[in-house]
Amino acid sequence: MNNMEFNKLFAALLVAGIIASLSGFIAGQLVHPEEQSEFAYVIAEAEAAEGGAAKVAMPEPILALIGAADIERGKQIAKACAACHNFEPGGTNGTGPALAGVVGRDKGSHAGFSYSAGMKDASGSWSYNDLNHFLWKPKAFVKGTSMNFVGVKKPEDRAALIAYLRSISGNPALPSEADIAAETAELAPVVQEAAPAQH
Ligand code: HEC
Repeated sequence: MNNMEFNKLFAALLVAGIIASLSGFIAGQLVHPEEQSEFAYVIAEAEAAEGGAAKVAMPEPILALIGAADIERGKQIAKACAACHNFEPGGTNGTGPALAGVVGRDKGSHAGFSYSAGMKDASGSWSYNDLNHFLWKPKAFVKGTSMNFVGVKKPEDRAALIAYLRSISGNPALPSEADIAAETAELAPVVQEAAPAQH
């Protein structure tokens, strides 16, 4: 190999090297922003999932609180419902069905009200336990419900509200010890998780 050929070869290798590293660099530039945003997206998703899991996924048990709950306080809380619900005996339906007598009433059964398919399909009657679930997160308990209401987050507020609903439903029997035990079994993990936040 003479000097001239060596120089040519060297120049060719140099150019090839420059092209290779340049194209790598350019590719890196092109791909990088997308990679990063995808990565950021994955993190955001993971955080959302974590946050979701950390949040209480079921309502706190409240059956044991209903008997001693303050009915007047429940009536005050029910003002948040009054835009849609009538609470008077024999009251008329509004945006939502009339609620006098709702404890123990079959779900989605009040005469003259046009319920969502989800509510019509909901089985059984409004037990204290079901009211606790529904009033905590309506859309989580009755899929497709037309009740556009975020829910009552504080367990004491739900207990007071349900005590008020009981008082306008002819005071049916309070939850039994067995009901309370069954509720504890169903929602016990929530008690442990929610306990520190309550003090
Ligand atoms: C924005 C209007 C609105 C608000 C506010 C609202 N509701 Fe409702 N509620 C509805 C509608 C509409 C339905 C019927 C849901 C369906 O058919 O899916 C309903 C259904 C119900 C039912 C089931 C009744 C039945 O006959 O089966 C109960 C119980 C209930 N609401 C309680 C409450 C309480 C207690 C509050 C306040 C904490 C409240 N709602 C706030 C609109 C509302």
